[in-house]
This record gives sequence, C-alpha cells and structure tokens, in this order.
Amino acid sequence: MERTADPSALLSVRNLSVSFSDATGTLHAVDNVSFDVRDGEVFGIVGESGSGKTVSLMSIMGMIESSGMKISGEALFRGRDLLRLSPAELSKIRGREIGFVFQNPLSSLNPVMKIGAQIAEAPVFHGLIGRRQAKEFAIHMLELVGIENPEKRVNDYPHQFSGGMRQRAMIAIAISCNPKLLICDEPTTALDVTVEQKILELLLGLRDSRKISIALITHDLTVAMNCADRISVMYGGAVMERGSAAQILRNPLHPYTRELFAADLENSRRRGREEGEALVSGSFLRREGCPFVPADAPPFVSRSFLVPADGEPGHEVNRLHLDSFAGGFA
Ligand SMILES: Nc1ncnc2c1ncn2[C@@H]1O[C@H](COP(=O)(O)OP(=O)(O)OP(=O)(O)O)[C@@H](O)[C@H]1O
Ligand SMILES: [Mg+2]
Repeated sequence: MERTADPSALLSVRNLSVSFSDATGTLHAVDNVSFDVRDGEVFGIVGESGSGKTVSLMSIMGMIESSGMKISGEALFRGRDLLRLSPAELSKIRGREIGFVFQNPLSSLNPVMKIGAQIAEAPVFHGLIGRRQAKEFAIHMLELVGIENPEKRVNDYPHQFSGGMRQRAMIAIAISCNPKLLICDEPTTALDVTVEQKILELLLGLRDSRKISIALITHDLTVAMNCADRISVMYGGAVMERGSAAQILRNPLHPYTRELFAADLENSRRRGREEGEALVSGSFLRREGCPFVPADAPPFVSRSFLVPADGEPGHEVNRLHLDSFAGGFA
C-alpha cells in the first residue's frame, strides 16, 4: 500500500482500483494506482491503448457509467474525497472546479448552438456572469484561446470552425468557470502535428497565466516529455514507472518505458507523422510479446510494487514487473 494522500496536492489519488465485471468475468482496468497533481503543474499519464489512463482519471470524476464497475481507494481534491461524494456534489465540482478537454471536439460541441453561447452557458448557469455579459465574456474567452476575429466568430456554429479552432473553443468552454484543474484526455490526437503543437502551447500558456493544473493523458511519450513536469507510465492498469519528465528522459528504468521511447524514435524516423496517426500503435507490446511479462502471465496483474530509483528522489519503478514477477501474483 502507498503512503496516505498528500494534502498539499491539488488532487491526490491513493490505491485506486477499478474493475468491470460482466457475465464473462472481471477486468481489472486500474490496479492500485496512486498519483498526485500538484498546484500549477502538468502531470502526464502515458501508456498504450487500454492501459487504464482514461479510467484512472474519469472514474474518480464519476464519468464512467457501467453497472459492473467497482471502484476503491481515495481521491482527495482540495481536501474532499471525490469517491465519497454524492452524484450531485460531484457534478457541482465537475465543469466548475475541474474542466475537461477530450480528443474529439466535434462530438462534445453542440452542432446547433452558436460557439459563443456554448462558452457562456456554464458561467451563466453557475451565476458567475449575468446573461447580459454573456457575449462580451465569450468574445474575451475566444480571444484568450487565440481565435482571430472573436467578435465575428462568436456567432459561428461549430461546423464553421476548423479542427484546431474547435479544440480551442473546447478549451475556452473547459476553462470558462475558471477551474483549478483541467483534465485533458488525448487533447491533440485528432489534430495534425503543427496544430497539435499550437494547442499544447496554448494549454501550457493557460497553466501559467491562469494558474491551472493540468492532468494530461496521452499515448504519445514525446507530447508528455515536452509538456509534463512529472509523468506516470502505465501498462495493464498499473504504474510501471513514475518521476519527473527529466528523470524519465535521462534514465528510463523500466523496459516498457524504454520500449515506448524506442517506438517513438523509430516512428518519427521512419516517416513524418500523418494527421491523426498515433506514435505508439495501440497494442504493439502485446502483439510482439511483452519483454517483461511472461507469455503465460494473466493480462492484468493484481498488484503493483513501486520502489525508489537509487539517488533520484521522486523517481520510482515497478519492481514486480522488472523482476519478472519474482514476488509472484497476489
Ligand atoms: N465502461 C467500461 N466498461 C467496461 N470496460 C471498460 C470501460 N471503460 C474502459 N474499460 C476497459 O478498461 C481498460 C482501460 O481502459 P482505458 O479507457 O482507461 O484505456 P486508455 O489507456 O485510456 O486507452 P486509450 O488510449 O485507447 O484511450 C480497457 O481494457 C477498457 O476496455
Ligand atoms: Mg483513453
């Protein structure tokens, strides 16, 4: 078990486990995961498809609906355990104190509502601004996220925006109530590489100017390395390695982290990235055979075991996986 929650962190998650059961069995999607998102930092969660990145953050926000879901652990946000709040209390925090940016802005935006009205909707609803200020507020927010001609664009509908502009509009909506934490789940995966860079710069700029902490979920180690202060590398629902971006870049200890780096390098050498293309393909390790998991091991290990790296405070690696499961399965 991990130490107890860190009360100085904005979000402190301890021993989070999430499983999904149906008639065919139980899937341990997140297994005993702990992490902190500190004030003003970008915290990155990296891993291949299905490694449990989204479930780690969205389950504690009450945003995963599944009758067979079981969740345990602790998720302290500004002193309150999100896992123990009522759905009504949680929905007050969502969108107001915690904002969300997803991969596909088109499916999150309302196609028949003007962009400006969508940006002002939540702050008007929460009484943060009056109805009369709505348009002026939306123009200001569009300007803040780098949309040119905001006075004109405020009356556009989502289909009149390009992909990059729609993601900027989504970010404007996400920060409209001045949240403390922004959860970005693959925010640039659907964008081409030049637009991706600009959106990431926008997010980092907002972190600095508005003092927002960012939890950045990405399968792309380069994106995480470029943006995050600290990183957790996940595989099979567990944390394989965690530390500062600099520590992990300089001294990746876990074979899985090294695999991610190697795949990243090879992909960028082999070809320029095309629009929407993932750097690390979804299940490359499982297909090739994972070098640190025996072939006959169950796909999800029921406990993880992080130990500190020598002489590197804050850098930890999952020994259980490193030792080829020398400790056995729980
Ligand atoms: N609502 C659900 N019901 C059942 N299983 C689920 C549900 N949501 C996620 N899972 C499963 O939990 C595991 C972790 O999923 P998760 O969405 O967290 O992966 P991810 O790392 O975010 O992957 P991706 O990069 O593809 O988004 C996967 O095996 C997934 O199929
Ligand atoms: Mg995901």
